[in-house]
Amino acid sequence: MLPATLTTVAYIIAIILFILSLGGLSNPETSRRGNWFGVTGMAIAVLATIFGSRIVDVGGGNSETWQLVLPAGLPWVIGAMIVGGGIGLYAARVVKMTQMPELVAIMHSLVGFAACAIGFASFIDTSITFAGSEHVIHLGEIYIGILIGAVTFSGSVIAFGKLSGKISGKPMLLPARHWINLAALVLVVWFFFQFVGTAGIHDQGGAIAAGWLPLIVMTILALLFGVHMVMAIGGADMPVVVSMLNSYSGWAAAATGFMLGNDLLIVVGALVGSSGAILSYIMCKAMNRHFLSVIAGGFGTGEGKAPVAGAEPAGEVTPISSLETAELLKDAKSVIIMPGYGMAVAQAQHTVNEITQLLRAKGTNVRFAIHPVAGRMPGHMNVLLAEAKVPYDIVLEMDEINEDFPATDVVMVIGANDIVNPAAEDDPTSPIAGMPVCQVWKAKTSIVMKRSMASGYAGVDNPLFYKENNRMLFGDAKKMLDEVLTALNS
Ligand code: TAP
Repeated sequence: MLPATLTTVAYIIAIILFILSLGGLSNPETSRRGNWFGVTGMAIAVLATIFGSRIVDVGGGNSETWQLVLPAGLPWVIGAMIVGGGIGLYAARVVKMTQMPELVAIMHSLVGFAACAIGFASFIDTSITFAGSEHVIHLGEIYIGILIGAVTFSGSVIAFGKLSGKISGKPMLLPARHWINLAALVLVVWFFFQFVGTAGIHDQGGAIAAGWLPLIVMTILALLFGVHMVMAIGGADMPVVVSMLNSYSGWAAAATGFMLGNDLLIVVGALVGSSGAILSYIMCKAMNRHFLSVIAGGFGTGEGKAPVAGAEPAGEVTPISSLETAELLKDAKSVIIMPGYGMAVAQAQHTVNEITQLLRAKGTNVRFAIHPVAGRMPGHMNVLLAEAKVPYDIVLEMDEINEDFPATDVVMVIGANDIVNPAAEDDPTSPIAGMPVCQVWKAKTSIVMKRSMASGYAGVDNPLFYKENNRMLFGDAKKMLDEVLTALNS
């Protein structure tokens, strides 16, 4: 075997581990294993990339004549890994579950930045000498890599700002914004031909200098496009934007793989790019939005407070105490718990688990209903419930449980709002019209736990609160559930 074959074998093992990782992460039961597959695959990939090409055969053609020639920049690589790994470890420890989407967004920006940096480095690297069509292809890879990287970088920084509340969630809609985007696209295509045409082969110094102008103008345009695209998207569509940027970051990595001639990076980039695209599609479906209308922007305020005009509170609500809630739960034969963003804020998942165990011990059929966009990131509720050790087999997806609400005695809605809003089905003028929701109002009694009458993420009023069979348990979800637990125990 040749040293180069050894690297290829290591890459293939890493790719298989990444595919197993994605498969494992699709289910809470196997997600830990999936994570470890990913970690192992990445460790193999990094080691094979750093050392693989440094193993040289000094003669003989068998493994005894191989020698490891350490790369000159190795201390830099190790230093960068320690700094990067340290920041990652620190972030993983201090970032709260509710801040995960913004962490993911800022991580995507780093992938975009890396693609740009590698693109510029490849352009000025005089050790790479291609000729003829190979050179033109290489320049094309550089241009496209920087283009996708710059859009991903600036778009992700804005997404981070919006998700962390540093930038308003309101869509910024410039007049003629679609024309601005179209003009930017035409310019980017035009500069592509300029770049590929003028930047000649590397030993012609003047040609490289000529290539700088189209490359830098395109980078500025791409950065502005990324800012403009995400600024135009309203708060309610942010989940789709995060997964879309996830997809872009994958394609940026794949483009970097082409630039560097690294097969592993191409495959891994394509895996991330396509899985992000599939996730965006699933989320668009869950919110009944068309992908193109999301990109076109303009939906949702993201402030999550005042209901939109014309949707003022429309009736009387019936409050309930935690004692009365406990009584209803004691008498119920079947209970569905519907968690939402508020459960994550209140960190009420452990109390929810204790109540679940208590009710199950006395024979009540307790199950959980999970909406695909509950909380603030895909799988948000599943992660919290898994952390609290709620058994997986009673945690059901919306489609699996939506038909069971009419036969349910009590539904406990814990800090959820938009995902249980009947206006999505009944009111064609509602901003969330057509979004599939959990039909909690069809149960005998629904109890909504939240602190006030404030609206949810989409900023729309919720007619569920005024229904005859609905009760409102006002207060912090953790505090209220602690009281319910005490009452159930007494
Ligand atoms: P929301 O509609 O945002 O409603 C959450 C509710 O929780 C609020 O109305 C709030 O009311 C209540 N709450 C907040 N803190 C609380 C606490 N400490 N105790 C009790 N209640 C509390 O959440 P949802 O129903 O989970 O729906 C998710 C929404 O977020 C959708 O619109 C979705 O499109 C959007 N979104 C989803 C994602 C993903 S990928 N899941 C990402 C970004 C955005 P009070 O203030 O009155 O307490």
